[in-house]
Amino acid sequence: MRRGSLVQLIVLGVVFGAAATLVALLIPWLPPVASKERDGIDLVYWFTTAICIAIFALVSAVVVYSVWKFRVRPDDDSDGPPIHGHTGIEIVWTAVPAILVTAISVISGIVLVQNDRADANHLNVSVTARQFAWTFSYPDQKNLTSAQLRLPVDRSVELHLTANDVIHSFWVPEFGQKQDALPGQDTKLVITPTKVGTYRVICTELCGLGHALMRTSAIVMEPAAFAAWLKQQGEAANGPPGQAGKAVFDNNGCASCHTLKAAGATGKVGPDLDKLPAYAKQAGKPLEDFTKESIVDPNAYVQPGFPKGVMPPFALPDDQLNALVTFLIDSSKGVK
Ligand code: CUA
Repeated sequence: MRRGSLVQLIVLGVVFGAAATLVALLIPWLPPVASKERDGIDLVYWFTTAICIAIFALVSAVVVYSVWKFRVRPDDDSDGPPIHGHTGIEIVWTAVPAILVTAISVISGIVLVQNDRADANHLNVSVTARQFAWTFSYPDQKNLTSAQLRLPVDRSVELHLTANDVIHSFWVPEFGQKQDALPGQDTKLVITPTKVGTYRVICTELCGLGHALMRTSAIVMEPAAFAAWLKQQGEAANGPPGQAGKAVFDNNGCASCHTLKAAGATGKVGPDLDKLPAYAKQAGKPLEDFTKESIVDPNAYVQPGFPKGVMPPFALPDDQLNALVTFLIDSSKGVK
């Protein structure tokens, strides 16, 4: 190969490599980093991306150079030269990718093992997935469940995931990891949030009609605020029925869709719960049965004027269900 050709090839490679590097660096492909585990994951991403850019630069340089230098004239009908391969090049293009792919898997393996380790003083949170909602419970606080995942900042958390029906998958893009929630199994995910804020929890495994709506929030709080929340919600969940019922209402995100004066809720997606007695009369069912049914099997009767199939069935433990029903009935009866 002539020295001039080599220089031209290298110039082309540098140009394509630089262009691909700019595309990689200037566009924010990855979500903001909000967990310690993301550092390792991003390292794997960038390591792999750097390899891809190098190979892209090499391949595009050779292709463009060949098209440029070796293209045939329109009137040239002769055969190309007979080529029988090149053992040296074949060894190189087999060995180099094998080394690179091995390097990627070794780094990924190290990151996975590191990310799987929770600190000794970690917090445990149980995560239950069902069609189509998430429930989080805190083993240190009896009866406390929440529709949002609340976590203290800078403390490692071990999530124990399971599912009631089909396979779901837990994902917070800013935390970086996905973990399946499987019926009858306990899967584990370690997260150490590093930034206070509210993030999206997304179900990332197709689980049925409401899959795209199976979202909630992960709220990362200052440790003191988290401790206060845990204590207050824990007390409310174990307090008198009215208070316990309101806690169930708050923790399951009812307020995002329903209006209920007693809970300060103003949601407009679903029926106005202050009108519960009137709705029960319209449905022709006893108030208590109707209220219970509307939580456990919300599509058995949908109040006219509201969309069908939007509310997921809520599989609450019996004591929570009863507390919620009592709270709803007592609150709605008092409203004129
Ligand atoms: Cu649950 Cu998709």
